[in-house]
Amino acid sequence: MKTIIVIGASGNIGKAAIKGLGKHKVITASRSGKGCDYQVDITDKTSIAALYKAVGKFDAVISAAGHCEYAPFESMTDDQWQATIQSKLVGQMNVVKVGLDHIENGGSFTLISGILNIKPMPLAIADATTSGAIDTFVKCVAFELPRGIRINAVNPTVIEEAWEMYGEMMPGYQPVPGALVGKAFERSVDSFITGQVIFVDA
Ligand SMILES: NC(=O)c1ccc[n+]([C@@H]2O[C@H](COP(=O)([O-])OP(=O)(O)OC[C@H]3O[C@@H](n4cnc5c(N)ncnc54)[C@H](OP(=O)(O)O)[C@@H]3O)[C@@H](O)[C@H]2O)c1
Repeated sequence: MKTIIVIGASGNIGKAAIKGLGKHKVITASRSGKGCDYQVDITDKTSIAALYKAVGKFDAVISAAGHCEYAPFESMTDDQWQATIQSKLVGQMNVVKVGLDHIENGGSFTLISGILNIKPMPLAIADATTSGAIDTFVKCVAFELPRGIRINAVNPTVIEEAWEMYGEMMPGYQPVPGALVGKAFERSVDSFITGQVIFVDA
Protein backbone atom coordinates (compact mmCIF):
# COMPACT_ATOMS: atom_id res chain seq x y z
CA MET A 1 0.00 0.00 0.00
CA LYS A 2 1.33 3.42 -0.99
CA THR A 3 0.54 6.77 0.60
CA ILE A 4 -0.71 9.06 -2.18
CA ILE A 5 -1.50 12.78 -1.98
CA VAL A 6 -4.25 13.84 -4.39
CA ILE A 7 -4.30 17.61 -4.96
CA GLY A 8 -7.59 18.84 -6.41
CA ALA A 9 -9.27 15.83 -4.86
CA SER A 10 -12.68 17.50 -4.57
CA GLY A 11 -12.94 18.19 -8.31
CA ASN A 12 -14.24 16.06 -11.18
CA ILE A 13 -10.80 14.73 -12.18
CA GLY A 14 -9.66 14.35 -8.56
CA LYS A 15 -12.67 12.16 -7.78
CA ALA A 16 -12.01 10.15 -10.94
CA ALA A 17 -8.36 9.66 -9.92
CA ILE A 18 -9.36 8.39 -6.49
CA LYS A 19 -11.52 5.69 -8.16
CA GLY A 20 -8.28 4.09 -9.38
CA LEU A 21 -6.46 4.19 -6.03
CA GLY A 22 -8.62 1.80 -4.00
CA LYS A 23 -5.75 -0.25 -2.61
CA HIS A 24 -3.76 2.73 -1.40
CA LYS A 25 -3.88 5.23 1.45
CA VAL A 26 -5.18 8.44 -0.14
CA ILE A 27 -4.62 11.88 1.40
CA THR A 28 -6.76 14.61 -0.13
CA ALA A 29 -6.09 18.33 -0.62
CA SER A 30 -7.66 21.21 -2.47
CA ARG A 31 -7.50 25.00 -2.70
CA SER A 32 -10.34 25.55 -0.24
CA GLY A 33 -9.70 22.37 1.74
CA LYS A 34 -13.47 21.78 1.75
CA GLY A 35 -14.18 18.07 2.27
CA CYS A 36 -10.42 17.32 2.07
CA ASP A 37 -7.73 16.43 4.61
CA TYR A 38 -5.62 19.50 3.78
CA GLN A 39 -5.79 22.94 2.19
CA VAL A 40 -3.13 23.86 -0.41
CA ASP A 41 -2.63 26.46 -3.10
CA ILE A 42 -0.44 25.15 -5.92
CA THR A 43 0.31 28.71 -7.07
CA ASP A 44 2.18 29.24 -3.78
CA LYS A 45 5.37 27.21 -3.15
CA THR A 46 5.23 27.89 0.60
CA SER A 47 1.74 26.41 0.74
CA ILE A 48 2.88 23.30 -1.19
CA ALA A 49 5.88 22.82 1.14
CA ALA A 50 3.59 23.16 4.18
CA LEU A 51 1.32 20.41 2.79
CA TYR A 52 4.23 18.01 2.24
CA LYS A 53 5.64 18.73 5.68
CA ALA A 54 2.28 18.16 7.34
CA VAL A 55 1.74 14.83 5.55
CA GLY A 56 5.24 13.51 6.33
CA LYS A 57 6.10 10.33 4.39
CA PHE A 58 4.43 9.77 1.01
CA ASP A 59 5.10 7.72 -2.13
CA ALA A 60 3.12 9.51 -4.82
CA VAL A 61 1.52 12.82 -5.67
CA ILE A 62 -1.35 13.22 -8.09
CA SER A 63 -2.16 16.72 -9.27
CA ALA A 64 -5.72 17.00 -10.55
CA ALA A 65 -5.73 20.78 -10.15
CA GLY A 66 -5.20 23.52 -12.68
CA HIS A 67 -7.52 26.46 -13.18
CA CYS A 68 -8.11 27.49 -16.80
CA GLU A 69 -9.67 30.63 -18.25
CA TYR A 70 -11.79 30.34 -21.40
CA ALA A 71 -12.12 33.10 -24.02
CA PRO A 72 -11.43 33.69 -27.72
CA PHE A 73 -7.71 34.31 -28.35
CA GLU A 74 -8.37 37.86 -29.57
CA SER A 75 -10.08 38.89 -26.33
CA MET A 76 -8.14 36.75 -23.81
CA THR A 77 -6.58 39.26 -21.40
CA ASP A 78 -3.07 39.14 -19.93
CA ASP A 79 -4.64 38.44 -16.53
CA GLN A 80 -6.52 35.44 -17.95
CA TRP A 81 -3.35 34.05 -19.52
CA GLN A 82 -1.41 34.60 -16.27
CA ALA A 83 -4.13 32.95 -14.16
CA THR A 84 -4.07 29.85 -16.37
CA ILE A 85 -0.29 29.66 -16.71
CA GLN A 86 0.35 30.22 -12.99
CA SER A 87 -2.17 27.52 -12.00
CA LYS A 88 -2.23 24.77 -14.62
CA LEU A 89 1.42 25.04 -15.73
CA VAL A 90 3.64 26.70 -13.11
CA GLY A 91 1.47 25.45 -10.23
CA GLN A 92 1.82 21.83 -11.31
CA MET A 93 5.55 22.24 -11.98
CA ASN A 94 5.87 23.62 -8.43
CA VAL A 95 4.11 20.52 -7.08
CA VAL A 96 7.00 18.53 -8.57
CA LYS A 97 9.85 20.96 -7.79
CA VAL A 98 8.92 21.33 -4.11
CA GLY A 99 7.90 17.66 -3.91
CA LEU A 100 11.40 16.46 -4.79
CA ASP A 101 12.57 17.57 -1.33
CA HIS A 102 9.94 15.39 0.37
CA ILE A 103 8.85 12.37 -1.72
CA GLU A 104 10.17 8.87 -0.93
CA ASN A 105 12.79 7.15 -3.15
CA GLY A 106 11.10 5.52 -6.14
CA GLY A 107 8.04 7.74 -5.73
CA SER A 108 5.95 9.18 -8.54
CA PHE A 109 4.24 12.36 -9.67
CA THR A 110 1.23 12.33 -11.99
CA LEU A 111 0.03 15.62 -13.47
CA ILE A 112 -3.16 16.50 -15.34
CA SER A 113 -3.20 17.96 -18.86
CA GLY A 114 -6.23 17.48 -21.15
CA ILE A 115 -7.14 16.50 -24.69
CA LEU A 116 -7.64 20.05 -25.98
CA ASN A 117 -3.97 20.33 -27.06
CA ILE A 118 -4.62 17.37 -29.40
CA LYS A 119 -8.24 18.15 -30.29
CA PRO A 120 -8.61 21.94 -30.11
CA MET A 121 -11.94 23.67 -29.63
CA PRO A 122 -13.02 27.32 -29.57
CA LEU A 123 -12.41 29.40 -26.40
CA ALA A 124 -9.91 26.88 -25.01
CA ILE A 125 -6.58 28.27 -26.22
CA ALA A 126 -5.18 28.79 -22.69
CA ASP A 127 -6.21 25.30 -21.53
CA ALA A 128 -4.84 23.74 -24.74
CA THR A 129 -1.53 25.62 -24.59
CA THR A 130 -0.85 24.79 -20.93
CA SER A 131 -1.94 21.16 -21.43
CA GLY A 132 0.59 20.86 -24.26
CA ALA A 133 3.23 22.40 -22.02
CA ILE A 134 2.47 19.92 -19.21
CA ASP A 135 2.79 17.00 -21.65
CA THR A 136 6.17 18.32 -22.79
CA PHE A 137 7.30 19.01 -19.23
CA VAL A 138 6.73 15.42 -18.04
CA LYS A 139 8.36 13.89 -21.13
CA CYS A 140 11.51 15.97 -20.61
CA VAL A 141 11.85 16.35 -16.84
CA ALA A 142 11.57 12.56 -16.43
CA PHE A 143 15.21 12.36 -17.58
CA GLU A 144 16.30 14.65 -14.72
CA LEU A 145 14.46 13.21 -11.73
CA PRO A 146 16.69 11.69 -9.04
CA ARG A 147 16.30 8.64 -6.72
CA GLY A 148 14.19 6.54 -9.13
CA ILE A 149 11.37 9.06 -9.01
CA ARG A 150 8.92 8.81 -11.93
CA ILE A 151 6.59 11.33 -13.56
CA ASN A 152 3.69 11.01 -16.03
CA ALA A 153 0.76 13.07 -17.25
CA VAL A 154 -2.81 11.90 -17.69
CA ASN A 155 -4.36 13.54 -20.74
CA PRO A 156 -8.09 12.77 -20.77
CA THR A 157 -10.98 13.91 -22.87
CA VAL A 158 -13.96 15.31 -21.00
CA ILE A 159 -15.41 12.89 -18.47
CA GLU A 160 -19.08 11.93 -18.23
CA GLU A 161 -19.31 13.46 -14.75
CA ALA A 162 -18.40 16.89 -16.19
CA TRP A 163 -20.39 16.62 -19.43
CA GLU A 164 -23.28 18.69 -18.13
CA MET A 165 -20.91 21.60 -17.56
CA TYR A 166 -18.78 21.34 -20.73
CA GLY A 167 -20.90 19.31 -23.18
CA GLU A 168 -22.54 22.28 -24.84
CA MET A 169 -19.19 23.80 -25.83
CA MET A 170 -17.85 20.43 -27.05
CA PRO A 171 -19.96 19.23 -29.99
CA GLY A 172 -18.55 16.05 -31.54
CA TYR A 173 -16.60 15.02 -28.42
CA GLN A 174 -17.45 11.72 -26.73
CA PRO A 175 -17.14 11.80 -22.92
CA VAL A 176 -15.55 8.85 -21.09
CA PRO A 177 -16.45 7.50 -17.64
CA GLY A 178 -14.37 8.97 -14.81
CA ALA A 179 -13.48 5.42 -13.78
CA LEU A 180 -11.49 5.04 -17.00
CA VAL A 181 -9.46 8.13 -16.11
CA GLY A 182 -9.00 6.56 -12.66
CA LYS A 183 -7.37 3.58 -14.41
CA ALA A 184 -4.90 5.92 -16.11
CA PHE A 185 -3.86 7.42 -12.77
CA GLU A 186 -3.58 3.89 -11.33
CA ARG A 187 -1.29 2.87 -14.21
CA SER A 188 0.93 5.89 -13.61
CA VAL A 189 1.20 5.21 -9.87
CA ASP A 190 1.44 1.40 -9.92
CA SER A 191 3.49 0.60 -13.02
CA PHE A 192 7.10 1.41 -13.90
CA ILE A 193 6.42 3.91 -16.69
CA THR A 194 7.91 7.39 -16.65
CA GLY A 195 7.94 10.38 -18.98
CA GLN A 196 4.68 9.19 -20.51
CA VAL A 197 1.50 10.99 -21.49
CA ILE A 198 -1.37 8.59 -20.83
CA PHE A 199 -4.21 9.55 -23.17
CA VAL A 200 -7.77 8.63 -22.26
CA ASP A 201 -10.09 9.28 -25.20
CA ALA A 202 -13.14 7.62 -26.68
N1 LIG B 1 -13.36 17.73 -16.17
C1 LIG B 1 -12.88 17.13 -17.24
O1 LIG B 1 -13.59 16.38 -17.94
C2 LIG B 1 -11.43 17.33 -17.62
C3 LIG B 1 -10.91 16.63 -18.72
C4 LIG B 1 -9.57 16.82 -19.07
C5 LIG B 1 -8.77 17.66 -18.32
N2 LIG B 1 -9.29 18.34 -17.26
C6 LIG B 1 -8.41 19.22 -16.48
O2 LIG B 1 -8.38 18.78 -15.15
C7 LIG B 1 -8.16 19.89 -14.27
C8 LIG B 1 -9.24 19.84 -13.18
O3 LIG B 1 -10.49 19.90 -13.81
P1 LIG B 1 -11.84 19.55 -13.01
O4 LIG B 1 -12.92 19.45 -14.02
O5 LIG B 1 -11.60 18.42 -12.07
O6 LIG B 1 -12.03 20.92 -12.18
P2 LIG B 1 -12.93 21.13 -10.88
O7 LIG B 1 -14.03 20.14 -10.82
O8 LIG B 1 -13.24 22.60 -10.87
O9 LIG B 1 -11.93 20.81 -9.67
C9 LIG B 1 -10.72 21.52 -9.51
C10 LIG B 1 -10.01 21.01 -8.26
O10 LIG B 1 -8.73 21.62 -8.18
C11 LIG B 1 -8.65 22.38 -6.97
N3 LIG B 1 -7.85 23.57 -7.25
C12 LIG B 1 -8.08 24.56 -8.12
N4 LIG B 1 -7.12 25.48 -8.08
C13 LIG B 1 -6.23 25.06 -7.12
C14 LIG B 1 -5.05 25.59 -6.56
N5 LIG B 1 -4.55 26.76 -6.97
N6 LIG B 1 -4.42 24.89 -5.61
C15 LIG B 1 -4.90 23.71 -5.16
N7 LIG B 1 -6.04 23.15 -5.64
C16 LIG B 1 -6.70 23.83 -6.60
C17 LIG B 1 -10.08 22.70 -6.59
O11 LIG B 1 -10.16 23.02 -5.21
P3 LIG B 1 -11.38 23.91 -4.63
O12 LIG B 1 -12.65 23.27 -5.15
O13 LIG B 1 -11.24 23.81 -3.16
O14 LIG B 1 -11.18 25.29 -5.20
C18 LIG B 1 -10.74 21.37 -6.96
O15 LIG B 1 -10.47 20.39 -5.98
C19 LIG B 1 -8.23 21.16 -15.15
O16 LIG B 1 -6.94 21.61 -15.42
C20 LIG B 1 -8.91 20.66 -16.42
O17 LIG B 1 -8.50 21.38 -17.56
C21 LIG B 1 -10.60 18.19 -16.89
